[in-house]
Amino acid sequence: MLVLGVESSCDETSVAIYDGKNMLSNVVLSQIDIHKKFGGVVPEVASRHHVRNVSIVFKEALEVAGVKPEDIDLVAVTEGPGLIGSLLVGIIAAKTFALTYNKPIIGLNHLAGHIYANQIEGEMKFPLLALLVSGGNTELILMKDHFDFEIIGETLDDAVGEAYDKVARVCGLPYPGGPAVDRLAQIGNDCYNLPRVMKNTNDYNFSFSGLKSAVINLVHNHSQRGEEVNFNDLCASFQASVVETLVYKTKKAAQEFGVSQVIIAGGVSANKTLREEIINAFKDTTIEVSIPPFKYCTDNAAMIACAGYYHYKKFNETRKLDINGLANMEL
Ligand code: KG4
Repeated sequence: MLVLGVESSCDETSVAIYDGKNMLSNVVLSQIDIHKKFGGVVPEVASRHHVRNVSIVFKEALEVAGVKPEDIDLVAVTEGPGLIGSLLVGIIAAKTFALTYNKPIIGLNHLAGHIYANQIEGEMKFPLLALLVSGGNTELILMKDHFDFEIIGETLDDAVGEAYDKVARVCGLPYPGGPAVDRLAQIGNDCYNLPRVMKNTNDYNFSFSGLKSAVINLVHNHSQRGEEVNFNDLCASFQASVVETLVYKTKKAAQEFGVSQVIIAGGVSANKTLREEIINAFKDTTIEVSIPPFKYCTDNAAMIACAGYYHYKKFNETRKLDINGLANMEL
């Protein structure tokens, strides 16, 4: 079965083709350089660039995979959550393709896509615990089977990626902030004594807004006193606090729920320290750890094509052409 995946929920236009075993193509056109000068994604600008790019990406994905439109068996498109204008461009393109070539179509949740990035080159083993960390979400999700999501903990305020982006801004680093903070953190020391917010609460929730404010206040206080901030050390301190809390609660939940596997997913799963620490935390246990390859951590259609394949295999259902964008779609 050949699945054509389409992703356009934020600032990447992407189309991929998956045959159930191999990713035959995964073309991603990123707008990062365009939004960099604004310090973040400008929704209207993003939608216009998706319109400009989407046909090119469709064509290239088919060419790279060496397949004709007629060969596709299923179209899988991100339905939400995301920027509504951006989502609609991918959805309309996917529906047009499905209508033109008379192909079945399904809508996918972008967050499910991030989780299924672990299935492209690896194998998800149930029951599993997914730590989903992205620009808009921070959740611990228990999965007992394919497409069976139980959220057992989540952030009460900022998503971890959002906190990274705000911290980057106060440190004078470019958008997207996460990779820049991660880079400085690797050469700094955890010496600013930042709090480990909610690490010891009796639940699996998180909070990053207070930690973000602590970093912002520290920078402002230093500047008022005319003192220099060591940004390498500040990034290292922020990252140490985030990763310690994420990994601590993930391990506690994994043990309580008796899972076979822990996976990480979402843009922040590209973080070097998080990847190292999650492996370290489980190395003396029977719980396996799965980490998606870097190229599948940030937004891409490969994860949507893969999720689409497993969704269809489980539910054997397709949708009508009334699929619409759902900006706040829940898992
Ligand atoms: O999953 P994603 O590509 O988009 C959403 O669906 O939100 O995640 C983007 C987020 C941004 O906040 C970005 O700063 C963060 O992932 N990010 C990172 C790293 N790479 C990307 N955060 C920390 N360390 C990284 N290496």
